[in-house]
Amino acid sequence: MTPRAPDRFEPLLSGRARIGWGVPVGTPRPAMNPLYEFGGGFPDPASFPYDGMVEATARVMQSEGAAAMTYGEPQGYRGLRELVCEKYERFEGLKVEPENIIVANGSGHALALAFSAFVDPGDAVISEAPAFSGSLITIKRHGPQILDVPVDAEGIVTAAVRARLEALRREGRRCKLIYTIVNFQNPSGPTQSLRRRHELVELAHEYDTLILEDDAYGELRFEGETLPPLYALDRHGRVIRAGTLSKILGAGVRLGWLAAPREMIPAFQGFLFGGGVSPFMSRVATSFMRDHMTTHIQRLIDVYREKRDAMLRGLDEVLAGTGAVVSRPEGGFFLWMKLPAGTDQRRLADLAVDARVQYTPGPVFFPNGGGDEFIRLAFSFEPPEKCYEGARLIARAIRAAGPR
Ligand SMILES: Cc1ncc(COP(=O)(O)O)c(C=O)c1O
Repeated sequence: MTPRAPDRFEPLLSGRARIGWGVPVGTPRPAMNPLYEFGGGFPDPASFPYDGMVEATARVMQSEGAAAMTYGEPQGYRGLRELVCEKYERFEGLKVEPENIIVANGSGHALALAFSAFVDPGDAVISEAPAFSGSLITIKRHGPQILDVPVDAEGIVTAAVRARLEALRREGRRCKLIYTIVNFQNPSGPTQSLRRRHELVELAHEYDTLILEDDAYGELRFEGETLPPLYALDRHGRVIRAGTLSKILGAGVRLGWLAAPREMIPAFQGFLFGGGVSPFMSRVATSFMRDHMTTHIQRLIDVYREKRDAMLRGLDEVLAGTGAVVSRPEGGFFLWMKLPAGTDQRRLADLAVDARVQYTPGPVFFPNGGGDEFIRLAFSFEPPEKCYEGARLIARAIRAAGPR
């Protein structure tokens, strides 16, 4: 049954608040008390730089305590915006100015700002399917028609994007934006190829629309080549790029941003009434990252690669020969599995509860239904030994949930 707002204030709700009432926005919370947390995209708690953040906090308080403790710039702390520019240049060769950056409460919030700025009920937007469930829930709250397009080994299928755009044009409509996750796509894993990146940017121009490029994991590349972001390939000011410190520093710092053409920034700022997003935390995070960004990220790459490999090994040992297809992402936090034909997802869910393994079922990643034959496993949170053990347990559950 669709949840309803309490009668007391239901008539007063805005149309937007009514859309998707009661649907929690953001990363799904664990539904049980798992021993093996492979559900959400939680960063590795053992790698948080506890001492470094204590030192950075003391430094900030000593050097600029008063400025850190008052309201901040509406667009976000300039030092953090400069750091984002430095990070982009160092990791992706992307040149952006601090004026192009607007800071938000994590990239989830940054994406929501972009949807608020451009999407009204009834509008057409294009999204990958599968795509990050948190974004899908947030887009849905804005009430658009979501036109899904598949993802293959090269990322978003641009021929399908063209077909969608062309169909809209024939109806006299225009797509508001194309939502895409370019690196280690969440959940299915591929990195969008250079050819597809060029094609997508050209399509946005040809059909007069925007691209919302979500990159939450790009620095966490274990192998393979870093490709230029859509933002760098775009010559027409059509790409908005979302980024975050959640996966490379800690999700609790709640700092993310949009990079966008300068003249677009006021469209986002109009939805940010708040005295600057966390001026205090922005300074602490910036102070830490200024000194340690490259070494810290290098360490994280090693940490997450080991976890990915441990989980892959555990799955492979038990599932070989069953027909299960498991992704091997070049970075990021997730594995995506096509279950062996005939797997009973309901039974799998029960068996996983018994084994205390949390995972995310495929359907939440599909905006318009489907996905029953998939699950997502996050290797980010648990230590490598538990990634291995838990992978074997879920793999046994998958076998047991197969055709009898
Ligand atoms: C692809 C993607 N985008 C955005 C986010 C949002 O992260 P945050 O709001 O913590 O920056 C996530 C988190 O899991 C994600 O996987």
